[in-house]
Amino acid sequence: MKTGDKYILLEKMSPLQKEALEDPEKFWGEQAKCLDWEKTWSKVLDWDYPNAEWFVGGKLNACYNCVDRHIKGNRRNKAAIIWEGEDGSCEVLTYYELYRQVNMFANVLQNLGVEKGDVVAIYMPMMTEAVVAMLACARIGAIHNTVFSGFSSEALSERINNSKAKVLVSTNTLYRRGKKIDLKGIVDKSALNCNSLNNVIYVPRGDEDIKLSFGRDYLWDELMAGARSRVEPEIMDSNDPLFILYTSGTTGSPKGVVHATGGYLTYATKTMDWTWGIEDTDVFWCTADIGWITGHSYVVYGPLSLGSTIVIYEGAIDYPEPDRLWKIIEKHGVTILYTAPTAIRMLMKYGEKWVKNHDLSTLRLLGTVGEPINPRAWKWYYSVVGDKNCPICDCYWQTETGGHVIYPPNGIQTVPLKPGSASFAGVGIEADIVDKDGKSVPPNTKGNLIIKKPWPGMLKGLWNDPERYKASYWNKIPGVFATSDYATKDDDGYIWILGRADEVLNVAGHRIGTAELEHELVSNPMVAESAVIGKPDEVKGEVPVAFVTLNPEYVGRPKEELKKELIQYIRDTMGPIAIPSIIFFVSKMPKTRSGKIMRRILKKLVVGEEIGDISTLEDTTSVDEIKQQLKGSK
Ligand code: WT7
Repeated sequence: MKTGDKYILLEKMSPLQKEALEDPEKFWGEQAKCLDWEKTWSKVLDWDYPNAEWFVGGKLNACYNCVDRHIKGNRRNKAAIIWEGEDGSCEVLTYYELYRQVNMFANVLQNLGVEKGDVVAIYMPMMTEAVVAMLACARIGAIHNTVFSGFSSEALSERINNSKAKVLVSTNTLYRRGKKIDLKGIVDKSALNCNSLNNVIYVPRGDEDIKLSFGRDYLWDELMAGARSRVEPEIMDSNDPLFILYTSGTTGSPKGVVHATGGYLTYATKTMDWTWGIEDTDVFWCTADIGWITGHSYVVYGPLSLGSTIVIYEGAIDYPEPDRLWKIIEKHGVTILYTAPTAIRMLMKYGEKWVKNHDLSTLRLLGTVGEPINPRAWKWYYSVVGDKNCPICDCYWQTETGGHVIYPPNGIQTVPLKPGSASFAGVGIEADIVDKDGKSVPPNTKGNLIIKKPWPGMLKGLWNDPERYKASYWNKIPGVFATSDYATKDDDGYIWILGRADEVLNVAGHRIGTAELEHELVSNPMVAESAVIGKPDEVKGEVPVAFVTLNPEYVGRPKEELKKELIQYIRDTMGPIAIPSIIFFVSKMPKTRSGKIMRRILKKLVVGEEIGDISTLEDTTSVDEIKQQLKGSK
């Protein structure tokens, strides 16, 4: 029998997928009815390569769809958010309470002069107010720009400045592993460098006094106390931006991925349902932080648009004991758990007994996202956590795709799962694996994962940078959307993601641009040159390893001291997630005759592979020096 595409098309494709691929516009027009529209679109898709406009002329409000429409029906008193703090305290917000808070905060923003089209930055850990702030922005047509609370003050300033955010919503303190992190200190440092920023709103945590800067800073509670309780949702055009989210790319500066209202919300809502087959009684826990796209599509917009109950947890999933995650599932009766392979591997290390002490019988589905899951972790997740009762939905997607694009369509049909494969292209997604010229590769061959046609969740563009948008996604392989991931298809048509094809690392499910990290390293006065590569890691998947050469005046200083300083520097400039696991100080880099650093060789040296022919190197003594250092580090 013929394998590859044909096999899937004939045997495994759901009727829904057939419909979607036969007449995409008719299909997506039908699907968009999952939302409440103020005005119906006149055209489903306007595709002016590489710019797509979805549901042209359609009018709606994302906040209305996630909140108002549920309180009109019988979900008014249903739990929208179950929040748990790291210290064990809990708070439940019903849809009605969420509605009230969102309305009031929308008015708070209005009172500070925020208008439709303005940008509001959100720099917060997992607290209910973060969700309220996002939805309040959507309500008044402001564009939210959420910045992960583990990012440094410099990374925060860069994102505020690039998006010209007017207001920042934050908190004074973040709790992590029982320790307090002074978020206000970071914000204060950052705000000094942000000209566009007029105001900062702090959600107070703990009982210390918060020192406010007069005229700039306000306390959430005080502003809420004076707010009106009702704000009409702004009627937005389907193609108005809903949010900006910065992500790492191949060059130094992060990319401001823009998602527009109608297409994005339709796609987040439908993929939420197609992946999990959401039922009204589900308690959905996606452990992602709202600082990442997963936290946008599957903590906030997807589940709330469907009127589901979500769980939000503030702290570390293995604190104070390794069973914290299992305890939360048991306590709140979680039915669907969606987490990352790195988290599974970490919890797996603590051993099965921590899981088995808890009643996890409410679980019906398990999900993973962020990186390929290794079969050993998959099997543990399936048998120990899911008790062999819960299918595992391995969902592949990106900040740019808005929602899942390769995933088992559990809510539509069941497909046999293969540990480590995200299975098939999702509904309405025409994916392929191609060579650099765009030609399909045969089964079991490594190639580039691409998507042939636009889909509603596709990014609208990059904030103020149409050229970079084109170059990053549409010019790599002409005519199609390049994911920048390598993949292969097996004989049964299952897609296996093999990792990034560009200079982006995947560290514990987080995207770190090696170019960005190199840029920060050389911006330190001690460093002359730097090269960063990824090294496989048992728990995190991959960790950054940095090679640096020093400026002459620093050469004699003790290496330990330099290392400490550089680590602190990266912590301050990028944030703790980007800190290299090893820093090598070398006297020269392996370079080609034209002066390019050969990162490929560095990588091979670090992972212990044969480096092969090095005749293109200008000076091979650099390799000997690194080998020597590697010996010393073992
Ligand atoms: C990159 C996107 C949106 C998911 C969270 C990260 C990798 C994501 C999988 C998966 C293998 C995966 C890819 C992708 N990735 N999900 N199920 N299997 N790899 O979003 O920060 O935009 O990162 O994460 O390399 O390109 P992101």
